[in-house]
Amino acid sequence: MTSGSAKTPTPAGYPLNEITTPKTIKNSIHPENNTMPLNGPFRAIVVSDQQPPNGQPLPKNSNLKASLTTITPDQLADEAVLVRIEYSSINYKDVLATQAHPGVVKNLPIIAGITASGTVVESRDDQFKPGDQVFVAHAKFGTAADGGFAEYCRVPADWLFQLPDGMSTETVSAWGTAGFTAAQSVDKLLQQNITPDLGPVIVSGATGGVGIFSVMLLHKLGYEVVAITGKDDHHEWLKSRGATSVIPRSEFAALLDETSKQPLLKSQYAAAIDTVGGNTLAGLLKMVQPRGVVTACGMVGGNDLPTTVFPFILRAITLFGIDSANLPRQPRQKLWDKIADNWQMDLSPIVTRISLDEVLDHIQRMSQAKTKGRLLVEIGNEK
Ligand SMILES: NC(=O)c1ccc[n+]([C@@H]2O[C@H](COP(=O)([O-])OP(=O)(O)OC[C@H]3O[C@@H](n4cnc5c(N)ncnc54)[C@H](OP(=O)(O)O)[C@@H]3O)[C@@H](O)[C@H]2O)c1
Repeated sequence: MTSGSAKTPTPAGYPLNEITTPKTIKNSIHPENNTMPLNGPFRAIVVSDQQPPNGQPLPKNSNLKASLTTITPDQLADEAVLVRIEYSSINYKDVLATQAHPGVVKNLPIIAGITASGTVVESRDDQFKPGDQVFVAHAKFGTAADGGFAEYCRVPADWLFQLPDGMSTETVSAWGTAGFTAAQSVDKLLQQNITPDLGPVIVSGATGGVGIFSVMLLHKLGYEVVAITGKDDHHEWLKSRGATSVIPRSEFAALLDETSKQPLLKSQYAAAIDTVGGNTLAGLLKMVQPRGVVTACGMVGGNDLPTTVFPFILRAITLFGIDSANLPRQPRQKLWDKIADNWQMDLSPIVTRISLDEVLDHIQRMSQAKTKGRLLVEIGNEK
């Protein structure tokens, strides 16, 4: 976010805007006016090293450093395309970003939100014109440049994608980074010829965004799916989404503790999709069948990997890293087309719709592993 030069900086440098409080402009934007020009202040969740003026109070006992507040159009970077955001979604990286985690957030203050979809309002680039429905996908969005928890964003044209055929701004955001990362993980298994007849695939962090998309997608493609979850009251929910069986996280952790000295365990899975890291990932590497595949995308359970070479040299296991943020444009487009073509699913059972006002509370809950599925932020369609 650029600090408008006409603004009076606070002692710590945050621009003071002559603006209304967030609540009073809540209903100022309507879906039928998707391309209306941006003339006045708009709402955004700003990460800052201090509480922004007019910022909503933070959730109780929060270690978040973000507030819902209002900003003025001149505070957006001068990029080629202005998008009126209709949907965003909460992804785990947003937890780290709103805590101003230095490994994730590169500039402060910044508007958080690593995903957004909406309608082009203005464009200085020939690739896009007002009225185009688009989504944003770029590693810097919501981390090094202003992101999608806002009513508008201004981005370079090469951060934008036209919606894949058959998808709406709503479904693209419901998939979001988590769904796309699950799709990348499943696609990796397909590329490695892990077919359903080879045996079950195990998924960790199964009720989370990446986890539940992995469970559902694998089930749709005919795989037997074993889910690991820390939510003891969500076993039936996971089974109704496609898990064949569910392992409580505590049971899985106890098994790993008891067998920690063993370099390999009974090989029972054709592949694993890990969203957790740490001991969980190390344990999964010990349990996959010879020539099996493990994908790793997350670190909610730790960023270490306490393993040995034995899964690799005795069972020829392959560990693939999944990095959705930096996937080049062409393979990204190709995977979205695949999602739109025959990987679409009924997402209603896993999507919780929330408003911009509720984002920080849900981010706080996600930081405590209390959320499930996908949190879709309805921005342009708030009633
Ligand atoms: N590399 C990439 O491109 C990429 C892209 C997207 C996400 N990610 C990463 O993938 C991970 C999951 O992201 P997400 O958006 O799915 O987050 P999420 O919705 O918060 O899901 C994470 C899930 O992990 C489980 N979990 C939480 N804390 C845990 C712990 N201490 N030990 C074991 N399991 C724990 C919980 O599921 P249960 O209660 O069911 O166990 C939780 O719901 C994050 O680390 C995120 O940064 C990476």
